[in-house]
Amino acid sequence: MNALSSTLAMPRLDLHDSASLLVSDQEAQSPARASQSAKMATENLSAWFGKNKILKEISLPIREKRVTALIGPSGCGKSTYIRCLNRLHEVIPGARMEGRVLLDGQDVYTRAMDPVALRRRVGMVFQRPNPFPTLSIRDNVLAGWKLAGMRPERPDDLVERSLRQAALWDEVKDVLNRSGTSLSGGQQQRLCIARALALEPEVLLMDEPCSALDPIATAKVEELIHQLGEKYTIVIVTHSMQQAARVSHYTAFLYLGDLVECNTTDALFTRPADRRTEDYITGRFG
Ligand SMILES: Nc1ncnc2c1ncn2[C@@H]1O[C@H](COP(=O)(O)OP(=O)(O)O)[C@@H](O)[C@H]1O
Ligand SMILES: [Mg+2]
Repeated sequence: MNALSSTLAMPRLDLHDSASLLVSDQEAQSPARASQSAKMATENLSAWFGKNKILKEISLPIREKRVTALIGPSGCGKSTYIRCLNRLHEVIPGARMEGRVLLDGQDVYTRAMDPVALRRRVGMVFQRPNPFPTLSIRDNVLAGWKLAGMRPERPDDLVERSLRQAALWDEVKDVLNRSGTSLSGGQQQRLCIARALALEPEVLLMDEPCSALDPIATAKVEELIHQLGEKYTIVIVTHSMQQAARVSHYTAFLYLGDLVECNTTDALFTRPADRRTEDYITGRFG
């Protein structure tokens, strides 16, 4: 059997099977297949704050309807990288970038691309849950629409659908008019995920979404990310290798602004190709 027919013969696996089974090695090892299924990609992406070069020529495909984890020691440029994907980097004074960021093969840094429209397609969830304190749970879900000056056709349906997708509906359906900040930290983070999902994004960027949560809330949000990975293209920054192993199909290791390697999560953790990756995952630094 050649490589392609053996790939086609791979059974479709349930996403709740072990993460290591999620992606065939053939998919990871064939660059042609990889670029075909890339929802986003960066090509030679470099980024600076003032004179400091933070990211160095990073070329990385981000696979469609897969979860890609970015790992690496604090300060290596993970947050900067994902901020370049939805053009949040450029709004920081003194920040600039070079290289290309592609969404469905289209350069997002052209004049034709409206950054606000881009950020609807490429949504973001931040480290600390940040619901609007003066808004109700319901209005928090709709906040992205309001900020964009738009109104969904059926707001109540959208609120329910988004909260269901964020695995929060059953917990809040009777208290939708309560303040968003009346919820627990883990619920607030799922509310922020619902707010992002309400804009019907294609890609979801998550910057250490569990770092402010306790272990039980973390487990819930991780389970949610795993489920959302069936429908959305997700990039998650995490400093927890266990979390990367639990939720992602692909993992990219960044070190001092370099992309050291990217592979299926299973391969990266079990057969790292680079000494620096091996040192990092075995806890020798970082
Ligand atoms: N607003 C900023 N101005 C100047 N330097 C910054 C800014 N934000 C981050 N940096 C620097 O950029 C580097 C990468 O930061 P960051 O992308 O936040 O790393 P990570 O998310 O991997 O911890 C760090 O050296 C950090 O100090
Ligand atoms: Mg960061």
